[in-house]
Amino acid sequence: MISLGTSQLIDFAYIVAIALFILALKWLSSPATARRGVLSGEIGVGLAVVTTFFNPGLIQYKWIILALAIGAMVGIPLGLVHMTAVPQRTALSHSCGALSAALIGIAEYYMSLPHVSRFEMTEIALEVIIGSLTFTGSLIAAGKLQEILPQRPITYRGQNFVSLSVLGAAAVIGISLVLNPNYTHLFPAMVIVALIFGVLLVTPIGGADMPTVISLLNSYAGFSAALLGFVLNLKVLVVAGALDGSSGFILSVIMCKAMNRSFTNVLFGAFGAVQVSKTKGEEERTVRTASPEEAAAILGAANAVLIVPGYGMAVAQAQHKVRELYDALTRRGVDVKFAIHPVAGRMPGHMNVLLAEADIPYDKLLEMESANSELPQTDVALIIGANDVTNPAARDEQGSPIYGMPIIEVDKARTVMVIKRSMSPGFAGIDNNLYYLDKTFMLFGDAKSFVNDILHELSGGSPG
Ligand code: TAP
Repeated sequence: MISLGTSQLIDFAYIVAIALFILALKWLSSPATARRGVLSGEIGVGLAVVTTFFNPGLIQYKWIILALAIGAMVGIPLGLVHMTAVPQRTALSHSCGALSAALIGIAEYYMSLPHVSRFEMTEIALEVIIGSLTFTGSLIAAGKLQEILPQRPITYRGQNFVSLSVLGAAAVIGISLVLNPNYTHLFPAMVIVALIFGVLLVTPIGGADMPTVISLLNSYAGFSAALLGFVLNLKVLVVAGALDGSSGFILSVIMCKAMNRSFTNVLFGAFGAVQVSKTKGEEERTVRTASPEEAAAILGAANAVLIVPGYGMAVAQAQHKVRELYDALTRRGVDVKFAIHPVAGRMPGHMNVLLAEADIPYDKLLEMESANSELPQTDVALIIGANDVTNPAARDEQGSPIYGMPIIEVDKARTVMVIKRSMSPGFAGIDNNLYYLDKTFMLFGDAKSFVNDILHELSGGSPG
């Protein structure tokens, strides 16, 4: 019989944790298995944390326990925020991860002096630079999303030059430290310059690019954790960081495609950031409106209805009423499906999560491409709190800030109905010509109460 020592058991537990992380990513890629994916990731992290307690190198537990308690006190309220605030919450948690990676790298540098090898210094410099810039960059992103800071891109003349110079300065200081790790006076300068670069990186980016930036910052935080794993010779951190970094990077690329933002543009911040135009709300144009009664009659008479949910459905928490509408129409023999735009709402998968919460069958959810091929045969496109993701300007108007972003082409349906409260623009801050088409009916009201009123009419006016 082979008897395992503590260090083999620790390695074994870390391998199990790594396997759970990989399974988590695999399961998270489908709505049907996503819950299992979250659980697997949570168990993996829990196992890695508990295993670390058994590390023979640990001699003092009190500070770790205190840090865990403080972390839990901050983390639990952060985890309970409303779903519409998840993007800024995510940015804040990236900033915490990046800060901890940077601080551990800083501590490791000072603890290893005066015997820091050039190789170690390279790892520490890279890790501390990426961790520091991700920390401040994520704070700025969270501030923009929470609207504490202006959402519009803040740009000025010579911005590219300034940003590149600051990044270059951090790199030059880092290289000098690698050449001579004992130039201790340079180390704080490198950290400060990297912190400044994080601010410069995100400040010029406009709100429309923010989801991609968040995902990119996630990837930076992951890579800095992976580098920290090298510094600490902790394989579980190398793998977890690499998984986080690469999945965040892939998600950023997918989102860039979905929003038609150039990846290098986002990667290098201000280098051609989106300019959000002013709304043309002052123009006198007329729209056709319909009452819940008329909307119910149109929906009830349709053969095929495609529902396009957006941010407004999330704000109104209308998903359960939408499920009731789906049931009511399906009972009448109407074929009801849902069109999911990859950046509808305020975070990746936002609509999928809400519709899953309301138990809407996954096979009724169409991705954008499939939805667009069905729309010409669709009787009614019912838009619930979506705006930008249906705006034909993205397809037709070259000068539009969202030009090139793929959209759900609801204007190809026979009739379009839009539930929203007013003529206010969506996230991109631009007018939507869809609302002025002859085939479009505006259903003004809060998404939840308007859908409830339609349900009331569909049930023959009995209380809904
Ligand atoms: P938006 O274009 O933001 O439009 C949402 C619409 O919902 C608004 O026009 C608003 O109009 C309406 N609304 C708000 N509250 C409502 C309520 N209680 N009841 C009914 N309607 C309500 O949303 P979208 O079409 O989902 O597009 C998403 C936008 O967010 C895109 O520009 C995307 O780039 C950006 N973005 C996406 C993400 C991700 S990853 N999904 C992250 C950040 C940003 P009223 O005020 O008139 O009601």
